[in-house]
Amino acid sequence: MFSRPVARAALAAQKRAFSSTVRASEKVAVLGAGGGIGQPLSLLLKLDPHVTSLSLYDIRGAPGVAADVSHIDTPSTVKGYAADQLDAALEGAKVIVIPAGVPRKPGMTRDDLFNTNASIVRDLAAAIARVSPEACVCVISNPVNSTVPIVAETFKKAGVYDPRRVFGVTTLDVVRAARFLSEITSADPKDAVVTVVGGHSGATIVPLLSQTQYGKGVAGETYEKIVHRIQFGGDEVVKAKDGAGSATLSMAYAGAKFANAVLRGLKGEAGVVTPTFVKSPLFADQGVEYFSSNVELGPNGVEKIHPLGPLTAEEEKLLAACLPDLKKNIEKGVQFVNQTA
Ligand code: NAD
Ligand code: LMR
Repeated sequence: MFSRPVARAALAAQKRAFSSTVRASEKVAVLGAGGGIGQPLSLLLKLDPHVTSLSLYDIRGAPGVAADVSHIDTPSTVKGYAADQLDAALEGAKVIVIPAGVPRKPGMTRDDLFNTNASIVRDLAAAIARVSPEACVCVISNPVNSTVPIVAETFKKAGVYDPRRVFGVTTLDVVRAARFLSEITSADPKDAVVTVVGGHSGATIVPLLSQTQYGKGVAGETYEKIVHRIQFGGDEVVKAKDGAGSATLSMAYAGAKFANAVLRGLKGEAGVVTPTFVKSPLFADQGVEYFSSNVELGPNGVEKIHPLGPLTAEEEKLLAACLPDLKKNIEKGVQFVNQTA
């Protein structure tokens, strides 16, 4: 045990380290800040002590959202940018979160959004490549399985691609998995964390329930049902909103949680590990260049991509169903950038 003076000195040093960590300058930009996700995401980022400056951009309404959020009594500064101010919004950003684009309506798949969202994401990525190529880019806009390759290919064209800094945000699948597992086991969701791997749509979403204390005993029909619910949780919200869009509030929570993890990694916090959809070697030999698995985040973005670990026969089957769909979605994104000027 420490003597009292030593313990006091250690505590003071710890406090200094904490406050200097929190004070380090971190500008976060939200592209699509006026939307259903963008607004609550901006609110949650305003509450994050790791964010010192918040830059809110949208083709509609961002200055209003910024004025509103800026009154919240946390230390970060907030500025809103109108449609013609994208470059200014991106200037100096360390982390850029992109929820810009259209959401689903009942009866649509995420892939049905491709025609509209692909060019939105490509054009935003081109601006990022020009203005803030060193930023970590967190893509929320669907279909994530295709929009992440679109960002990567756009960066490659501009000669600024660093695979360590482009992320697809799959955190909502992880959030849902913990919540749904807690509902059937009565565990606290914080103890029911599930690694969800693969991609972000239907069969490409692969929960590894066997790797958790509370999930490994789930079997039979209960297992089938929870896997289906994790894979198609987005549909529940789209159906309930009945034409008014898809998940916004839970997504804002998930997006803020992921941005917080990226920021903690950038600041050198050790052991920040979360699933995210990145350029990955795990299934590259099968032509699947991007894959979500547990990733350790660090000062340069992706620090280490973890292997999947042991899978059950059911999980092997889910993975086998995931890979061909994911491959197609990725190729569609790659082709889109390389076929357009
Ligand atoms: P929304 O329509 O409410 O908001 C989208 C916003 O993007 C609007 O404010 C719009 O003006 C803006 N926008 C459009 N084009 C833009 C551009 N070129 N630059 C900047 N902003 C632009 O939609 P939403 O509910 O917020 O959903 C946004 C996207 O997020 C959708 O594609 C949806 O499918 C996706 N999403 C992803 C996840 C996930 O888990 N990754 C979860 C939920 C929703
Ligand atoms: C989700 O998982 O809720 C999002 O991808 C939105 C959607 O279209 O389902």
